[in-house]
Amino acid sequence: MGKGAMSHGVSEEGEPENMAAWLLGVNTLKIQPFKLPPLGPHEVRVRMKAVGICGSDVHYLKNMRCADFIVKEPMVIGHECAGIIDEVGSKVNTLVVGDRVALEPGISCWHCNYCKAGSYNLCPDMKFFATPPVHGSLANQVVHPADLCFKLPENVSLEEGAMCEPLSVGIHACRRANAGPETNVLVMGAGPIGLVTMLAARAFGAPKVVIVDVDDQRLSFAKAIGAHQIIKVSTDMQDVEEDVGRIERAMEGAVDITFDCAGFGKTMSTALKATRAGGKVCLVGMGHNEMTVPLTPAAAREVDVVGVFRYRNTWPLCLEFLSSGKIDVKPLITHRFGFSEKEVEDAFETSARGGNAIKVMFNL
Ligand SMILES: NC(=O)c1ccc[n+]([C@@H]2O[C@H](COP(=O)([O-])OP(=O)(O)OC[C@H]3O[C@@H](n4cnc5c(N)ncnc54)[C@H](O)[C@@H]3O)[C@@H](O)[C@H]2O)c1
Ligand SMILES: [Zn+2]
Ligand SMILES: [Zn+2]
Repeated sequence: MGKGAMSHGVSEEGEPENMAAWLLGVNTLKIQPFKLPPLGPHEVRVRMKAVGICGSDVHYLKNMRCADFIVKEPMVIGHECAGIIDEVGSKVNTLVVGDRVALEPGISCWHCNYCKAGSYNLCPDMKFFATPPVHGSLANQVVHPADLCFKLPENVSLEEGAMCEPLSVGIHACRRANAGPETNVLVMGAGPIGLVTMLAARAFGAPKVVIVDVDDQRLSFAKAIGAHQIIKVSTDMQDVEEDVGRIERAMEGAVDITFDCAGFGKTMSTALKATRAGGKVCLVGMGHNEMTVPLTPAAAREVDVVGVFRYRNTWPLCLEFLSSGKIDVKPLITHRFGFSEKEVEDAFETSARGGNAIKVMFNL
């Protein structure tokens, strides 16, 4: 392509342009040029190699919003990612060109009281990939702070690097609930988040992890990757007592921690009732904003309810678990797509269908 030629994906200088998947409206994703900011002294430019689709990405595509975040301007989508360093800022001395890295997607302010206290995931000024108005990372290249790029051990693939993002949610949930060798764990919901929470609980040493879902495919998947037991429940709200009974029989009444990774009124009610006195219910799923749940009897049994928002300081532990083989996330990657407009569309449809699609991954 000669100098000055104008063609899709090629700049006026003949350099391949940086392309990204832009969310332009409901169900409308287009691959268009994405101009990168100049590289700051503490930043790196990363060539994206693996990007996973998250439930929130699908929400944005279907509704232009997710929880209270509303997409008002075109936005580059994607936040579960790993790639190869292409350029480092003048003050970066921890990474070199060619390093393979997993990217932590949230840039916090480092100045507020939350950041100073270490709870940077609660920073009110967080800039997080693909949370409007911040652009995401389903692009050929992105610019990111070097301290949020974690070098992959040799035996950890770029796809596994991208899986550090969802896995981090499970690890943070386990830390919040103090999961360990003395806690039997119940997980409500066998979607990607329920599954990584199950894997994390096992890696934290939980002797028994039981998982509950309404979907047979999801349950058999959970069994195949290491759930000690699976329990099928119905979506009928009337059946809470029946579900609790089934769980009590399976776990002999000893549920120390329940992770609700679905977030519906029914799952929360079941979680509150099935967890033993003095145990913990960890609310990971955010399916419903408001729900009517039997909180008082749970409080009277000193069941603690613990919230979870994303994660903090989890990438190093993720990489250690992946590198040592304590956690294997590879089976979770059920579908792979390339980076053309048609494939992006198909990939999001596949992810939105759920069922046997757990993690849908782009290879760029
Ligand atoms: N707290 C956080 O920081 C955080 C981070 C990521 C995701 N999430 C939330 O976690 C939740 C799960 O995410 P996901 O990507 O796995 O979603 P998903 O929709 O793929 O999985 C949810 C699973 O719950 C099952 N389910 C539905 N109703 C049920 C019921 N009554 N009983 C048992 N299981 C039931 C579904 O069949 C599905 O398998 C979502 O609400 C998401 O918003 C929270
Ligand atoms: Zn995600
Ligand atoms: Zn802050």
